[in-house]
Amino acid sequence: MQGPDPQPVLTPITAAAIFLVLTVDAGAEDAIRELLADLSGLKRSVGFRVPEAELTCIAGVGALLWDRLFERRPAGLHPFPQVTGARHVAVSTAGDLLFHIRAHRFDMCFELAQLLTARLEGIGRVVDEVHGFKSFDERDLLGFVDGTENPEGSTAQASVLIGEEDPLFAGGSYVIVQKYLHDLAAWNALATEQQEAAIGRRKLNDVELPDDQKPANSHVALNTIIDDDGRQRQIVRANMPFGSVGSGEFGTYFIGYARDPDVTEQMLRNMFIGDPPGNHDRVLDFSTAVTGNLFFVPSAAFLDDPAEAMRAAEESAAEPGRAAQSDGSLGIGGLRPLT
Ligand code: HEM
Repeated sequence: MQGPDPQPVLTPITAAAIFLVLTVDAGAEDAIRELLADLSGLKRSVGFRVPEAELTCIAGVGALLWDRLFERRPAGLHPFPQVTGARHVAVSTAGDLLFHIRAHRFDMCFELAQLLTARLEGIGRVVDEVHGFKSFDERDLLGFVDGTENPEGSTAQASVLIGEEDPLFAGGSYVIVQKYLHDLAAWNALATEQQEAAIGRRKLNDVELPDDQKPANSHVALNTIIDDDGRQRQIVRANMPFGSVGSGEFGTYFIGYARDPDVTEQMLRNMFIGDPPGNHDRVLDFSTAVTGNLFFVPSAAFLDDPAEAMRAAEESAAEPGRAAQSDGSLGIGGLRPLT
């Protein structure tokens, strides 16, 4: 049987995005459950009028808020763990809710962001807001093409969507976000060859450096993760540049979706602690992470109606042929959301 529809995690790159991270006040749990259920309708209110703009919105819920809203916690959900290396730190910052809004037109993103924040007035606070734009050639503000090695098709789906390993939450995903600020003056003082050695790819034509020329502390080398069976562990990134020329702020908003957050966290350990320890990612000498969060992205069905989605998930998981306990249940307990 086919699993529940995911939220639109695997959408092509758009021209614009808004990343909203919010905290939610105590006592606002009912309002948040209602907002999550209304999200697809709010998206339609804005997006239906301009279908070619391909507006999408993904909601993610942090571990602390999840426990306030629902009884059962997805297996991999936990607060984002700070990663402390000898030179650089991946900070962990406040955040209960993420809205990842994408469209080919910025006005569509903004309109939806307005509707969402209006619903959260008095019960939630925007703690980080980033307006991302697509740069020509898909380049980040370091000048390199960003996103090339993202998995595609069925590999992408298998990399980001939860399956039978956590049947109640099948169709869900985990997302890690980090806001990076670049020291562009220092980066641009490097020769192009030094920048290419830091990334692990050629700058102009985006071709990966051969293994014997790719430094062990390059971004690509440290983010290529092979498991014990020789398979690559992958995530899907939808990074966006952002900035403000007047205040000299130049950044990359990192956003990575994964079926298992440990994959992204291993990448972060490689980057910040180093592999081996001390061999940290050279890109970090020019990029500072100022936020860091992990969110669970439930399936679209779960967002619309959690109780019904959990009931359907238990039913489908208990079908003959599926692993069940001797009492016939999955041992997953009550399925109602907390009220
Ligand atoms: C300063 C922020 C970052 C910048 C500017 C950046 C930029 C890039 C660029 C230019 C590439 C090469 C082209 C490509 O395949 O996309 C790349 C690859 C990659 N990055 Fe990042 N990245 C950043 C942060 C991160 C973080 C935090 C992670 C993971 C936690 C990550 C994971 C990856 C992965 C998995 C690849 C592909 C490696 C491969 O298979 O070749 N990146 N990144």
